[in-house]
Amino acid sequence: MKKDTCTFINNRNNKSYEFKILDANRGPSVIDISSFYKKTGMFTFDVGYTSTASCKSAITFIDGEKGELRYRGIAIEELAENHSYLETCFLLLYGLLPTEKQLLSFDLELRHRSFIDENLKTLIGAFPDTAHPMSILSSSVTALASFYYEHLDIKNDEECFEMATRIIAKIPTLAAFAYRKSLGVPFIYPDIDKSFTENFLYMLRAYPGGKMKRTVDGNDEIRAIEIKALDTIFTLHADHEQNASTTTVRTVASTGAHPYVAISAGISALWGRAHGGANESVIAQLEMIGDVSNVDAFIERAKDPHDDFRLMGFGHRVYKNFDPRAKALKKLQDELKDELKLDSKLMQIAERIEEIALKDDYFVSRNLYPNIDFYSGVILTALRIERPMFTAIFVIGRTVGWITQLMEFRADPASKITRPRQLYVGK
Ligand code: ACO
Repeated sequence: MKKDTCTFINNRNNKSYEFKILDANRGPSVIDISSFYKKTGMFTFDVGYTSTASCKSAITFIDGEKGELRYRGIAIEELAENHSYLETCFLLLYGLLPTEKQLLSFDLELRHRSFIDENLKTLIGAFPDTAHPMSILSSSVTALASFYYEHLDIKNDEECFEMATRIIAKIPTLAAFAYRKSLGVPFIYPDIDKSFTENFLYMLRAYPGGKMKRTVDGNDEIRAIEIKALDTIFTLHADHEQNASTTTVRTVASTGAHPYVAISAGISALWGRAHGGANESVIAQLEMIGDVSNVDAFIERAKDPHDDFRLMGFGHRVYKNFDPRAKALKKLQDELKDELKLDSKLMQIAERIEEIALKDDYFVSRNLYPNIDFYSGVILTALRIERPMFTAIFVIGRTVGWITQLMEFRADPASKITRPRQLYVGK
């Protein structure tokens, strides 16, 4: 029997069918079932795609059993410790870390593209003050497709990278404007003298005229340690292979829709509590628990099969071990504990939850470890970023991943419109 095939036997009619096995460079091999229906007259059934690879990809690799994550072959720990978010963006987009000159040119390009059309400002201004930043962000990214409609019909690589850098550069500005809109304060334009991450913090915090808050000790400048912390958060969120939002982006792109509309759909998918929206829910949950003495009762609720309460920031479809991004964030949180005066009460509650859950049989037997969202909220709170912005921060970090995945999808001649089948159980 050939070693690169596997046989499916249908016991109903005693027929057997051969399917090719395709080997991955790392991780599990896959059975190519693209001809399954043609050969057998049946579909396969896999709710939530727990066992289905939907594409070939050379961007990000995850080993959920070991708790390993790599972008373009480089371990996430190495990137978080020794490289900036912009270097990581370049790596994802171009497949290699940049030289010094390439990095400088990429950085300048993003700075120059960070401004948004004045009409977009008007659009954001038209939202009610109560609008959630994710709603504004998703809508304004859809609107970007009207301002850069030419990106629909990209003819060469150069145009493709222009489309990618444009959205990466503008997302922080849109997110900052959405935030300021929700606070009812004037928008702050990007400052091209500032780096990507510093500029974002500046657009959140500055007063009109670009001045920083004055305190009795001087000006409340943005500290290097804050920039480093947020930059690391962006790096840790930059890509995560075929998760729900990335799959959404690929699906929308598969219809030939505008790239920015596909990114907007990814933003909407990310917003849900089971995905990126969990970071906002974690802090809401810690506040609801209120005190370390209440933790045990909430743990019992999380374990109760008749209660739909779940510990937010715990569990992951792929990681059956510690999420390596969570590990990196925990390390960052410990380093920043004193420097940023992290909220000790919330941290105490979080630490107690972690301590119990890592030992409790319910969580251990189901491989429920803290995920990235469990720690990011506490650090973002320390950076004085309000809770409704947490998922928008995730968007800023993830945009490069979405756009890289979209470019990979478009470049692959084997790509097809996404069109799953169903098991009909109706009348
Ligand atoms: N608290 C309590 N129990 C949990 C939790 C949790 N956070 N997560 C899973 N479980 C339990 C389930 O009840 C189920 O138990 P059972 O086997 O007794 O029925 C078992 O663990 C498996 O859970 P599933 O929902 O089948 O796992 P799935 O892979 O479909 O879901 C998910 C993964 C959505 C992340 C889930 O763990 C969850 O809801 N976590 C909380 C939300 C969260 O933190 N999301 C962020 C994920 S990371 C990201 O998107 C960036």
